[in-house]
Amino acid sequence: MDKGDYPGFYVMAAMCQGRGMGYKSHIPWPPIKEDYYYYMELTSRVTSLDKKCVNIQGRKTWEGTGSQQKQRKSVYNIVITRDEGRREELLKDPDVNNVMTSLDDAIEFSLALENRDQFESVWVMGGQIFFEESLRHPLCKRIYLTEILQHFPADTFFPPVDEETYKEVSHSTVQESKGLKFIYKIYERIK
Ligand SMILES: NC(=O)c1ccc[n+]([C@@H]2O[C@H](COP(=O)([O-])OP(=O)(O)OC[C@H]3O[C@@H](n4cnc5c(N)ncnc54)[C@H](OP(=O)(O)O)[C@@H]3O)[C@@H](O)[C@H]2O)c1
Repeated sequence: MDKGDYPGFYVMAAMCQGRGMGYKSHIPWPPIKEDYYYYMELTSRVTSLDKKCVNIQGRKTWEGTGSQQKQRKSVYNIVITRDEGRREELLKDPDVNNVMTSLDDAIEFSLALENRDQFESVWVMGGQIFFEESLRHPLCKRIYLTEILQHFPADTFFPPVDEETYKEVSHSTVQESKGLKFIYKIYERIK
């Protein structure tokens, strides 16, 4: 990650046509191996072994996350919940590094001067409300969005990207995996 990008945070998401991003606690489309590796690499890549990438996620997203993803050594996992009982349970989970009660607190903690030495990048991983809050947040520098070019039933949705605030700076060719077509897009904050 460029040094000039920091401090700020990034959003990592995938959506299908109709902006669906989740269905019955899972991803709406069949697994796409290539997108999974893309996502795993970007949200855990560090240039220095003593640093970590912060991954911030809502409690439901955390519960739906696989163990391979939860246990990455270079990731510092923050889970957001408002429920005190759940907070206690989450704190017992060895893969959870921190539990917060709001996205603002998680961002403030991750970007705090005293924590900058230990964190190399900060990522918001969902779900819906945290993507909505992130896109409105002035420190959201970049959105990495995979667009699946097919419609699937969904009950959670990725918010519209305001073109006056974010500019599309990268757009892959159409990729295909097991018959599913998709595009990797990157948006950058312009104001
Ligand atoms: N396609 C993608 O990129 C992507 C990414 C992530 C997730 N997903 C999908 O999205 C779905 C899960 O997302 P979701 O939106 O349903 O849930 P979520 O945001 O992951 O988690 C919701 C939980 O977060 C806590 N929460 C919500 N608002 C809060 C607030 N203002 N302050 C503090 N805590 C708050 C609450 O936890 P408590 O109830 O414990 O208080 C709430 O139940 C799944 O289907 C998942 O597969 C897709």
